[in-house]
Amino acid sequence: MENPYIPFPMKIEEIVLETDDRKIKTFVLGFVREEDRGRFVYVPGQFGEVSVFGKGEAPFGMASTPTRPEYLEFSVSTIGVVTGALHSLEKGAVVGVRGPLGNGYPIEALKGKNLVLIGGGFGFSTLRSLTNYILHDGNRAAFGDLTVVYGARQPGLLLYKEDLAAWQKRSDLAVHLTVDQAANGWQGRVGLVPNVARDVAPSPENAVVIICGPPIMMKFTLPVVRDLGFSDEQILFSLEMRMKCGIGKCGRCNMGSKYVCNDGPVFSQSELARLTGEAHF
Ligand SMILES: Cc1cc2nc3c(=O)[nH]c(=O)nc-3n(C[C@H](O)[C@H](O)[C@H](O)COP(=O)(O)OP(=O)(O)OC[C@H]3O[C@@H](n4cnc5c(N)ncnc54)[C@H](O)[C@@H]3O)c2cc1C
Ligand code: FES
Repeated sequence: MENPYIPFPMKIEEIVLETDDRKIKTFVLGFVREEDRGRFVYVPGQFGEVSVFGKGEAPFGMASTPTRPEYLEFSVSTIGVVTGALHSLEKGAVVGVRGPLGNGYPIEALKGKNLVLIGGGFGFSTLRSLTNYILHDGNRAAFGDLTVVYGARQPGLLLYKEDLAAWQKRSDLAVHLTVDQAANGWQGRVGLVPNVARDVAPSPENAVVIICGPPIMMKFTLPVVRDLGFSDEQILFSLEMRMKCGIGKCGRCNMGSKYVCNDGPVFSQSELARLTGEAHF
């Protein structure tokens, strides 16, 4: 049996500075050992524990799509020891990655459904993964309508600008970008994500909504999608909880009878309500 605590060595092939405030960078990692590529098989919504040797490790959702298996991408916001150490690394450095971990988005159950993806901050990373996965030529026909609502405080804090531009040119998804404050000639919407979701008003008919972002955004988006008619089974959240082992051993991330690392981080609102005995948010 393989030791789940031993990471794959991965080389930083590229670093993309995502935001004007320089706080979020996307690390594009390539497998050092060719045989590891086939062992890291993931679905959007799963995460990896990324280690900086001598500093520690931290969980990050995969921002890349499994339809491009040669690279893993992680978008990292610098806030502390591991994230700060990652931000100080340069192209060519080797880091460790354990995973894939967690349940990820329930791809099979999402097939045939109209999907509404609502994101903010770096929480959008796994929704970017899911969007690119769905848009892949071989996958698009398996899913219904795709609506993306994504917001940031300012235009310069929106991630994945190339993807956003490419998505906006396509006719097989609707992208609604918003910022809290307009700047730099921003022509798009101005408003908080929950308000924009209310304006866009996606139909709950044969639909699933997936919400991923800062807790405050998720809290205020829940009543909006409920008002639009989505039932708790049709509402999925991806949670971001403090974690250590990432594999259901240390007990750091437990929520009721479940571990967010193993049983999540993706839960339906009905599961969350059952777990906490009351609505989670
Ligand atoms: C499933 C999952 C997916 C994630 N995906 C991403 C991602 O894609 N991009 C990204 O940038 N981050 C992501 N995170 C959060 C990331 O793991 C933490 O920011 C990281 O662990 C911080 O490590 P650090 O050593 O730099 O911070 P530390 O030095 O440990 O802490 C610095 C400060 O941040 C606080 N802090 C640390 N971790 C968290 C946390 N999880 N929630 C709230 N406060 C925290 C600490 O209390 C402290 O005040 C994810 C977390 C989880 C559980
Ligand atoms: S992080 Fe150890 S049990 Fe979840």
